[in-house]
Amino acid sequence: MKGIKKVADGIFWIGGSDKRLSRFENIFPIPEGVTYNSYFIDDEKTAVFDTADITIADQYIENLKDALGGRSLDYLVVLHMEPDHCSLIDKVTALFPDVTVVGGKQTFVFMQQFFPQAKDFKKLEVKEGDTLSTGAHTFSFVAAPMVHWPEVLFAYDDKNKALLSADAFGTFGALDGAIFADEFDFEKDFLESSRRYYANIVGKYGVQVQAVLKKAAALDIQMILPLHGPVWRKDINVLFDKYQKWSTYESEEDSVIVIYGSLYGHTASAAQALASLLRDKGAEGVKVYDVSGTDVSYLIGEVWRAKKIILMCPTYNNGIYPPMENFLSDMVALGVQKRVFAIAQNGTWAPASGKLMAEKLALLKNVTVLEKVLTIKSALHASDEAALEEFADAVIGA
Ligand code: FEO
Repeated sequence: MKGIKKVADGIFWIGGSDKRLSRFENIFPIPEGVTYNSYFIDDEKTAVFDTADITIADQYIENLKDALGGRSLDYLVVLHMEPDHCSLIDKVTALFPDVTVVGGKQTFVFMQQFFPQAKDFKKLEVKEGDTLSTGAHTFSFVAAPMVHWPEVLFAYDDKNKALLSADAFGTFGALDGAIFADEFDFEKDFLESSRRYYANIVGKYGVQVQAVLKKAAALDIQMILPLHGPVWRKDINVLFDKYQKWSTYESEEDSVIVIYGSLYGHTASAAQALASLLRDKGAEGVKVYDVSGTDVSYLIGEVWRAKKIILMCPTYNNGIYPPMENFLSDMVALGVQKRVFAIAQNGTWAPASGKLMAEKLALLKNVTVLEKVLTIKSALHASDEAALEEFADAVIGA
């Protein structure tokens, strides 16, 4: 069944939504699904920008054939060689053996690693500043290394003032028949997914995102066509503002999140008591998460949103409770910055997780770790009230 959407003059979306995949990259849960966007250029020459994931192969090839309407495909432009976008290159080139495959130098290295037959493809190698004309459209290429792989290119269509932005400005989430961001309530429908996608997929590469945002600022961009999620044709500064914040590691809100690990409920109970006290003292938007019951990708998304992060953790085998250790390692791997951390530890005989968590947090740049550590011996009791008050005050005052 036809699954094509017009997105601009001469540009058609021929991608697909996947609601069956449970984990993106086999890591990140995506109950909201995901889209793989591909853009068909209907011009004197025909072109497609990127293919799609193997999971939507049948729909994709049907869309491509429908879009071509019996014409041949002249160009297959590859902006990103990650398999969620490139896995149908072999099928497209088999259908159209005369197609010219367009990409950067490193694109073709990766292409041959995934598809050895690429050595025989008709190729056009491009680099930043090069252009490709299809007739009415001229596409200029912009290098976007490490957003999200090193070979990534963006392309700018001068006709529609549209930026084809590869993974950048994308999001988890299926499109449910729509195509434009303004067909949704973005804050309600996509902001959390968009932030979680950014933080987990691109979060480590803030410097590189900043570099490409500076290049983008020199272009007159009226539309953004990412490889995942909706196309932007209105209010694109909303998204640019988010990317500016996310890529400089500025929190979106001055809010507090409490992330706890708990074997038997005692640290969980302490976390709820602390959250209640924080609210009583005027803290806004307090959220509490069980590190065992919340996939770490959601916690990372929340770290990109909130300013203050309280970690409450039992001591386990004289170390950090493993799910908390995993979360800390993920924050270190992603290079979290500019946050305030507060530590609470629990231990029945030798609490040690506080010191160990502080050592992990010391690996982060530009963060504040509060000196005041709350120590719980097995469970929180009325006798701990003053210590809890002091701890909450230290968080609020930070
Ligand atoms: Fe959507 Fe980096 O692939």
